[in-house]
Amino acid sequence: MSTTLNNSRDERVPVRGLEGVIAADTSVSYVDGIHGRLLYQGYDIHDLAEHTSFSEVVFLLWRGRLPTRAERDVFSAELVAEMRLPSQVVEMLKLTPPNSHPMAVLRTAVSMLANFDPDVENMSPEANWRKAKRLLAQVSTIIADLHRIRHGQPLLSPDPNFGLSANFLYMLRGTPPTPLEAEAMRVLMVLHADHELNASTFAARVIASTLSDMHSALAGALGALKGPLHGGANQRVMEMVLDIGNVEMVQSYIAGMLENKKRIMGFGHRVYRTEDPRSPHLKKFSELLCKSTGQEHLYEISRRIEQAVMEAKGIYPNVDFYSATVQHALGIPPEYFTAVFAASRTAGWIAHIMEQYADNRLIRPTSRYTGDMGLPFVPIDRRG
Ligand SMILES: CC(C)(COP(=O)(O)OP(=O)(O)OC[C@H]1O[C@@H](n2cnc3c(N)ncnc32)[C@H](O)[C@@H]1OP(=O)(O)O)[C@@H](O)C(=O)NCCC(=O)NCCS
Repeated sequence: MSTTLNNSRDERVPVRGLEGVIAADTSVSYVDGIHGRLLYQGYDIHDLAEHTSFSEVVFLLWRGRLPTRAERDVFSAELVAEMRLPSQVVEMLKLTPPNSHPMAVLRTAVSMLANFDPDVENMSPEANWRKAKRLLAQVSTIIADLHRIRHGQPLLSPDPNFGLSANFLYMLRGTPPTPLEAEAMRVLMVLHADHELNASTFAARVIASTLSDMHSALAGALGALKGPLHGGANQRVMEMVLDIGNVEMVQSYIAGMLENKKRIMGFGHRVYRTEDPRSPHLKKFSELLCKSTGQEHLYEISRRIEQAVMEAKGIYPNVDFYSATVQHALGIPPEYFTAVFAASRTAGWIAHIMEQYADNRLIRPTSRYTGDMGLPFVPIDRRG
């Protein structure tokens, strides 16, 4: 029997969940949780959602300024040209069990890509810029290819007439997006591209701060995004909306969940104390797309859920709530929703990784020790 000897207590107090801790400087994006504002490199998300292509936003996040038209066109074409995957990675996608989660496959595939990237260990800014473009483009292709492999469909090459976001949808579904679908996909990708120091971005920056490679940092970020308290919420929102099934059931379903102290997925936020500024844009496209695909009831159910949660708890929807019905109406299966989020957020992760490299200090916090101290050592033959 061992005895506990508390020599002294560790009196330091940790900040649970690092809530409110300012852990980095960034110019990539700014979240004002009180006033419900989101800026990418100084530009309001509402302006970007209205006016910019996804490629423009990626250029902005990585370069810190909006591109000229000529720069945007060149950059967009470069991204589309980088969508090809090494054949070994495609083979690996085919080897994954059909029921493994697309986020798990994506995480593995990004890790595997590192082994085939000629620049993987080259940390020069030029090499990082090349890797950034390749990785961003390849993440979309991994998701599209996985979906088609699992449906026994032939893999598609990107169409040079589309940008990255429209190509992503085209290569996943096999049908060219309508103007409304292309617009919804653009907005979806623009809105998810960055969000300051959320859990996955922090994970990416921690890994980058060890001066590990970009692929490693991205694989870590994907692991963090996968969780239901982060990017995994959008899939669960859709499962809930489909489970509720009709508008009349919303009130009792939500009341039942709250009585059982269950969290309603797609609601609440660590930083926003008011409406998430991304939500109204997604709500608009949820309505338009659900109507245009004859699934208006799914939009109506969502709207009633929003009302019910607001009345019961005063909590606003976050980005994951209306993005669920947007993606569903675009023909994307729910298990791919988080991966689609990841395809866009890769832009932000890479911006933060490059920012970390540019002014690095190893991220290494400390913890309060709550275990025993000074236990007398017992040789192995006297234990038991
Ligand atoms: C995102 C999230 C983890 C942030 O949580 P947080 O900052 O830790 O907030 P807290 O857990 O302190 O919640 C504060 C209060 O709001 C409630 N709350 C927060 N989100 C809720 C939700 N989605 N459903 C029901 N109640 C919720 C909590 O129960 C708590 O209520 P209480 O004070 O009566 O106990 C949380 O809102 C959540 O779990 N949301 C659902 C998952 C989701 O949509 N994630 C995507 C985030 S973009």
